[in-house]
Amino acid sequence: MNFFSIAEKLDGQERLEKVEEASKKEKRRQGSAENGTNDAEKIEKEKKRAEDMEKRVDNAEKRAEDAEKRAEDAEKRAEDAEKRAEDAEKRAKDEEKRAGNAEKRADDAEIRMKDAEQKVEQEMRRSKIAECKIEQLKQIYNDQYWNIPREDIIFTGPEIGSGGLATVSKADYGGVQIAVKKFHNQNICHLSEEQFRRELQLIASIRHPNLVQFIGATIHGDKMIFLELMPTSLKQQLEKENYFQPNIVKCISLGIIKALNYLHRMQPDAIIHRDISSANVLLEPMLPPQHWRAKVTDYGFFNSVYQLHIETAYSAPEAIVSNEQSPKIDIYSFGILMLQMLTGQLLPLEKRPILFRQIYHKQLLHLVKKCLRLSSLERPSADDIIIELH
Ligand SMILES: Nc1ncnc2c1ncn2[C@@H]1O[C@H](COP(=O)(O)OP(=O)(O)O)[C@@H](O)[C@H]1O
Ligand SMILES: [Mg+2]
Repeated sequence: MNFFSIAEKLDGQERLEKVEEASKKEKRRQGSAENGTNDAEKIEKEKKRAEDMEKRVDNAEKRAEDAEKRAEDAEKRAEDAEKRAEDAEKRAKDEEKRAGNAEKRADDAEIRMKDAEQKVEQEMRRSKIAECKIEQLKQIYNDQYWNIPREDIIFTGPEIGSGGLATVSKADYGGVQIAVKKFHNQNICHLSEEQFRRELQLIASIRHPNLVQFIGATIHGDKMIFLELMPTSLKQQLEKENYFQPNIVKCISLGIIKALNYLHRMQPDAIIHRDISSANVLLEPMLPPQHWRAKVTDYGFFNSVYQLHIETAYSAPEAIVSNEQSPKIDIYSFGILMLQMLTGQLLPLEKRPILFRQIYHKQLLHLVKKCLRLSSLERPSADDIIIELH
């Protein structure tokens, strides 16, 4: 109940009391006024006034009640409004908080994005550096690594030997004695510098203790290749000693077959030597029990360039009659070489039984026979031979 309604109520009561008092007075007057008509009229008027008063009081009371009810409603509405305001405030706070969180997340995301951008830039810089390095390496690999200027080579003696493709001489390269292989022009003139370079790239990547090491080449003008210089060749030694004892044959054969095994295992394609012969096995003396270390030369280049199909005493039957080229043609040549080392002779196929009879070392004889099988599929692999010779 508000102040206004209480005041109105009090006012009504007061007036009621006054009315009651007036009516009492009236009654009292009535008793004495029966005497005069004026008085009766007055009384009548007073009564009416009292009734009016009563009516007004009733009205006032009713208005007071209405006011009270309105006040109650207003209070309730105010309470509701307050509650809604509180709710709204709470929601506003929540929203503010959410907005704050979202802002923070956005800031974090921006930082992370900047970091990522920085990383991408770094990676790009690194990949550019790597690309440059690859280019440099390619250059070194293609040109500088093994392309030796002609003026760096000083020839120091007469020819060591001469074969179908080249003449070989001794030379000095930076204080080291090397072998220089100078190609006969008619064999090489059809090759462009680029073709020559491509062939040499393969040889330059080959390293094995039983392969004569390639040192470098000149690709401009007269084409020459530079190789590790070896003291002698199997051909020269056989000319001197005619044949070797089985233990020495084993040592030399193991060196040759290890080199062949390495070439035959080359990926993605096996390298087939195609020209295994006593001239292409070079030797360096060793202390017993080894006696000699064998190193194979002329690998990977000469025959792949010229695709020679020249028949030699070492050629496998299938290499002569067809283009069939498998590592097994090297195994056949290896068998002939063993036979030559054991007997000192190179005889045609039909006379070989004579040579077989001269070999007393059963294991080596058996191995030679296996290598010389006419069917290439029945010949052992380089791997098998290594196991047998060990
Ligand atoms: N790196 C070398 N070190 C020493 N002598 C070598 C070397 N290369 C080849 N020779 C000798 O030069 C001779 C000729 O070699 P090459 O031109 O390969 O002819 P072939 O066709 O007979 O293999 C060989 O028989 C060998 O005695
Ligand atoms: Mg040779």
